[in-house]
Formats: sequence, structure tokens, C-alpha cells
Amino acid sequence: MQISTTLSSTQVDDATLAEILANPGFGTNFTDHMFTVEWTPAQGWHDARITPYGPITLDPAAAVLHYAQEIFEGMKAYRHADGSVWTFRPEANAERMVRSCERLALPELPVADFVQAVDALVEVDQRWVPTNPDGGEKALYLRPFMFASEKFLGVRPAEHVTFMVIASPAGAYFKGGAKPVNLWLTEEYTRAGRGGMGAAKTGGNYASSLVAQREAYAHGCDQVVFLDAEEGKYVEELGGMNLYFAYDDGTIVTPETGTILEGITRASIIEILGKMGYQVSERKFGIDEWRTDVASGRITEIFACGTAAVVTPVGTLKTRDGGSPAPASTELTMKVRQALVDVQFGRAEDTFGWMHQIV
Ligand code: PLP
Ligand code: COI
Repeated sequence: MQISTTLSSTQVDDATLAEILANPGFGTNFTDHMFTVEWTPAQGWHDARITPYGPITLDPAAAVLHYAQEIFEGMKAYRHADGSVWTFRPEANAERMVRSCERLALPELPVADFVQAVDALVEVDQRWVPTNPDGGEKALYLRPFMFASEKFLGVRPAEHVTFMVIASPAGAYFKGGAKPVNLWLTEEYTRAGRGGMGAAKTGGNYASSLVAQREAYAHGCDQVVFLDAEEGKYVEELGGMNLYFAYDDGTIVTPETGTILEGITRASIIEILGKMGYQVSERKFGIDEWRTDVASGRITEIFACGTAAVVTPVGTLKTRDGGSPAPASTELTMKVRQALVDVQFGRAEDTFGWMHQIV
């Protein structure tokens, strides 16, 4: 892919950037540039460019605004102590986007083009990748996304599609950092049904989660737990994270996929736990098991995982009729978290070959 670059003449000055990077929050500050490429049936992917970050022009009839034909990815660029900059398993994000493209009837973006686009933006905006002299975990969050930009109100797959990448320095997703998060169980709303879009990373899934997320906030919780749509019995995932359950006998369970998002953090943790000597069981996991096995003390830890949240211990589960207290321990959770971030930040050897150097 040929990428043209127009540098911004109004890049953020060093003092302002230092202030932003000292306390980046999540998803509020964006870098000086963005990547864009367009697709039409006749031309394929064309006009790849890096331009100054800024608002885009979209026709009010652009299909995405009406029918939500849109997908996205979430990943991070990490600065190592020697100044180099790396992404974590970028091909896995690219491959998941290809699967999302198929589900949303969007044109496939080749894996190599996805990785090249991300690399190009990170390279141009490399000064936005935070350093962590204090051993912290700040990184540059990357948001590749694709949407139906065609001006057309008929309901069919769009014939003009835009793929973009934007980037935003990020600290902890949850205000408390790695402190346990409390969860709200929604028994009214579901996220994805059989044949639906649950396994795709598409805006519609997040739109449908918001009313439940609002309920969670109203109950003093950070995230929502969704159950399967068919029987309302099995734990699927959170609004933006996958789940793990650890038992006192060394058994570890993560809900099976199908209608949940196949998290790259989730998949990586299966391998990390394997190296630690644990075997992870991917299976249906009942909400009753959660209640019973925390009560009996057999479940010792529960944690949530995802790019934005990394690995975060789960505290209390709140439900309409009470809920379930926080499991006893966070020891394994913190070990898994450490093992993962040590690879991402280059503080441990990358024995899995997961890291991809950009700068
Ligand atoms: N589940 C949902 C609904 C998500 O939005 C995310 C975040 O991306 C995840 C799971 C975790 O996926 P990953 O580990 O690839 O970030
Ligand atoms: C991510 O972890 O990348 C996500 O998309 C989750 C979202 C809650 C920010």
C-alpha cells in the first residue's frame, strides 16, 4: 500500500504533550495525525494517506449513520525502556477485523495493509507513546475502524467504505487502576443472540450494551455482565471485556466463544496460564456456578481482561436479588497481569513472539 503523508503544521507543543502524557486518562486526547484509506468496488482500497488529525466530512445520507455498518479494533503501542515502540500481536487484530468485515458485509482489508497503516501512524506520532519511568503501564491506544461512507439510503452493503486509524494516549481504563471492579448482572438485556453479531467488533454491540451499562452505573458498578440470549443462564462477557474464573483446585474456566468477542487478551492468557502450568477450560459457565462456587469458596478469583482494561480483578457481583461477594483472592490475577504487561513493555522475554517493533 502506498501511503502519502501530510504533516500537521499545528502539532501539540512539547510542554502540552508532556502534560497530557503525565495523566492521559482514556480516550479523550488524540494524536496529531490520522490514517485514512477508501474503498470502492471499482478501485478497491485506494488513496491511503496520513493527514493532520481533525473532523471528517460525512454526507448526512452516509449509510453508517443510518444502518450502523461499522466495525473497529482496539490495540496499544508500548514504549520499552530503550525508547523502542512495539505493538502486541497486531496480526491478531487484523485477522479479527477480517472476520468482523465478513459479518458486517464490509470489504476485507488485507492483514498486511492493516498492520502497515497502524505502523505508519504510530511512527509519525511516536512522540505520543508514553514513557513509564516509574514502571507504570501507560501506552498509546490505537483505534482502527471501518465504516460505510456511501451516500445511499437503500439497505445493502455500502459501495464506498472508509478505513481509518486514530490514536490516543491511555492510562488505566478504570479509575481505580488494578483495584477490583464491581459488576452489575443484567437479566433484562442481552448483547448478542444466535446468528447475531456477538463475535464481531461492531458498534451496534456497544450501542445495545449502553442501557445496561447505565443501569450498572446507577447500581454503583463499573461494568455489566451479559448472559446468553437463548436461556439467560450462561455468563458471556462484560460490555468491553472477557472473564476468567479460577478455582481452589487449580481449574480455570473462561466462557466459550460463539456469541462473545474473541478477545486477544483472553487468548493470550490461555497461553500464559499454560506456561504457568494451568489448563484453561473453555466452556459454558452458568451464572449459578458463579453464585454457588464463590459462596462455597471454591472459586478463589475472578478477573476481567481486555486491551483497555488489561487484567482487572472482579469484586462484587450485584444482581436484582442480591448477588455474590468478591472472591477471596487476587493473587493469580495479579501474576497473570504482571506476566502479560512485562511482555508488552519489554520487561520480560517475549517467548511467544507476540511483540512487533515499529520504532
Ligand atoms: N469483549 C468485548 C465486548 C470487548 O469490547 C473487548 C475489548 O476489546 C474484549 C472482550 C477484549 O478483547 P481484547 O482482549 O482483544 O481487547
Ligand atoms: C478495548 O479494550 O480495546 C475495547 O474496545 C473495550 C472498550 C471498553 C474500550
